[in-house]
Amino acid sequence: MAKSASSPRPSRPARTGRPARSTRTGRRSPLASVALLVVGLLATGGAYAMFTTAASAEEGGNASIATADKENGEKLFQANCATCHGSNGEGTNQAPTLLGVGAASVDFQVGTGRMPMAVQGPQAERKPPQFTDEQTKDLAAYIASLAPGPDIPADEYLTGKGDVTEGAELFRINCAMCHNVAGAGGALTEGKFAPSLKGVSAAHIYEAMITGPQNMPVFNDQNISPEDKANIIAYLTYLDEHASPGGLDLGDLGPVSEGLFVWIFALGSIVAITVWLTAKSN
Ligand code: HEC
Ligand code: HEC
Repeated sequence: MAKSASSPRPSRPARTGRPARSTRTGRRSPLASVALLVVGLLATGGAYAMFTTAASAEEGGNASIATADKENGEKLFQANCATCHGSNGEGTNQAPTLLGVGAASVDFQVGTGRMPMAVQGPQAERKPPQFTDEQTKDLAAYIASLAPGPDIPADEYLTGKGDVTEGAELFRINCAMCHNVAGAGGALTEGKFAPSLKGVSAAHIYEAMITGPQNMPVFNDQNISPEDKANIIAYLTYLDEHASPGGLDLGDLGPVSEGLFVWIFALGSIVAITVWLTAKSN
């Protein structure tokens, strides 16, 4: 127990009975550890909230391509994409044609960082986007001007609101065999995989459905109506918001991370109570 630096009072009572001073110092340390615990929890929670909001803000933008700068898109295309996709987007032996893929495909591929492709692999993988949202829309507008194709989805389907139960059902039927029921992702053949759908923006989910990147099938409006696409997005948004109360998903092991949270939290409270009880008794 730390000794107080303050000078002892002149009329300090003898060590009989309960000296007021020793009770005071006894109480100070449990309060300090409780305060420390609270500060620690708040700091972790705060950092988590900061990171998650930063991530979702990054995903946000869905400016329409109607106002995008097609000429700038063409310049960006010639500088960054033409070597693989051909100077008119006609395709080369390196990469497929982009004629008719539509603004949606460009927004998805560039917006999720898959394009420009860095290394030849079994699959173009998601990575931090190389272009701003504005530049992405410029590129999309340029490709869309070459040949018609699926457009960037309307905002009304991207609110993340809808019938979650209906969305969950549709997801189980159409998507779960590749992406897992909880959207955690899964392996496919030949080194390919269906990625986890955690934290994917509503626009990118919608665009993936209408463009069917690589091994993923296309879900056109006859297969799944725009309203039902919105319901699927609502389900995935629900999963994002409710899946991991611990703040960390620990590889989507679900109950394990939740258990861990309870474990740490409960253990923390037990330690706090113990410290408090022992402090009270002396
Ligand atoms: C190193 C070569 C390479 C570069 C550079 C590259 N791509 Fe690609 N791109 C590919 C390959 C290969 C594919 C097809 C396989 C895949 O999707 O993984 C592809 C697919 C695409 C698709 C999907 C086409 C579809 O059928 O829906 C789009 C859209 C696209 N690229 C746009 C771009 C844009 C825009 C750029 C420039 C910012 C770019 N790519 C740069 C190699 C490249
Ligand atoms: C046959 C398997 C298969 C099915 C069924 C399937 N997907 Fe996919 N999905 C994939 C693959 C493979 C990719 C990765 C493509 C890539 O990287 O270019 C993917 C990518 C995605 C992405 C992009 C994720 C990211 O990280 O950017 C989203 C979103 C998505 N799928 C949603 C869905 C939804 C919603 C459904 C059901 C309506 C669905 N998928 C059905 C195989 C599938």
